[in-house]
Amino acid sequence: MARIEFKGVSKTYPDGTRAIVDLDLVVEDGELLCLLGPSGCGKSSTIRVLAGLETFSDGMILADNNRIDHLPPQARDCAMIFENYALYPHLTAFENIAMPLRARRLPASEIKARVTKIAGILRMEHLMGRRPSRLSGGEKQRVGIGRALVREPAMFLMDEPLGHLEAYLRVELRAEIRKLQERLGITTIYVTHDQEEAAAIADRIVVMSAGRLQQVGSFLDLFDRPVNRFVAEFVGEPPMVFLPVERTNADSIAVKGVRIPISEPLRAALRATQDRELILGIRPNDFSLGPPVRDHLNGTVTLVQPQGDHAIVAVSTPAGPATAIVPSDRRPAPGATVGLTFAGERLHLFDSAARALNKGEGGG
Ligand SMILES: Nc1ncnc2c1ncn2[C@@H]1O[C@H](COP(=O)(O)OP(=O)(O)O)[C@@H](O)[C@H]1O
Ligand SMILES: [Mg+2]
Repeated sequence: MARIEFKGVSKTYPDGTRAIVDLDLVVEDGELLCLLGPSGCGKSSTIRVLAGLETFSDGMILADNNRIDHLPPQARDCAMIFENYALYPHLTAFENIAMPLRARRLPASEIKARVTKIAGILRMEHLMGRRPSRLSGGEKQRVGIGRALVREPAMFLMDEPLGHLEAYLRVELRAEIRKLQERLGITTIYVTHDQEEAAAIADRIVVMSAGRLQQVGSFLDLFDRPVNRFVAEFVGEPPMVFLPVERTNADSIAVKGVRIPISEPLRAALRATQDRELILGIRPNDFSLGPPVRDHLNGTVTLVQPQGDHAIVAVSTPAGPATAIVPSDRRPAPGATVGLTFAGERLHLFDSAARALNKGEGGG
């Protein structure tokens, strides 16, 4: 098993694309860490340099405090799994999984025991005699995952392994991946652009943008205490709403002349900066909509999307567009004029460089 450390790692492709910029990151022994970010942010490059499939320009990579970046890929003992995992078509599922163990010439009894254990955890004992042509997409991916895991590598690197599967299969299989990873205790980096998937399986999540690590933490850390606007907007669905604010005083703010109550930690953060170009961030859950009130922030409902027990309501306000989540039975009609109120203790403020003012201070 291994504790992985990236120290100042940068990767620039020959055409000048900076895929990884000065990455410092520790993946703890036995941890499942998700790399989360939009397409092109450097997730695949990060695990490919770790696996030794790409060279990098600067920095070092360590496993249990020993440098591994000069080692060839085979010596790094990473098992990789991609979105499309090729199986041997002429071999049964059992033999596909057993392949890496046969290559190592393990005794047949041990191979049988290990394949059976993996098949059991992935609930596919009944499929072991089938060839890939008789397996569904989800079953094939399970076999691929089983084959990558059976040799119990030092680390497990998964690059959007469930990307092409149907939604219900993704949900089922990610739970199984998590179970298997916990059972085997293998350090795992799991790449995804899907925040729900990351939230469901990760011990910690790394948010990346344009090759740079933005923030590392649990899903709730990222959701409640985003360090900057990128993380605030990328994590949480529907995204956080941003409205420009005026400073009315050293420690008070207003949106279009309407004073917004804020919590004491946020007031303290406000007093500590001279910045005047501030942006207020509000989660759609932290709005309430009521009847319009004179001298309050009012808006016009532009779209109502029912989602079962709640509805997502888009409102056009003089300060900009806003999104609120309201209980279905209290949703307004499109075209209605509504008054917006904010949960003062849950607000976020960002400075003109897009950094959170109340970094690490709780939700607001
Ligand atoms: N072989 C390559 N040559 C040049 N640029 C590349 C290559 N592979 C990836 N890139 C670029 O590097 C950046 C990061 O890519 P990648 O790591 O694949 O991101 P992600 O996996 O997050 O989508 C992107 O701008 C991508 O276009
Ligand atoms: Mg990728």
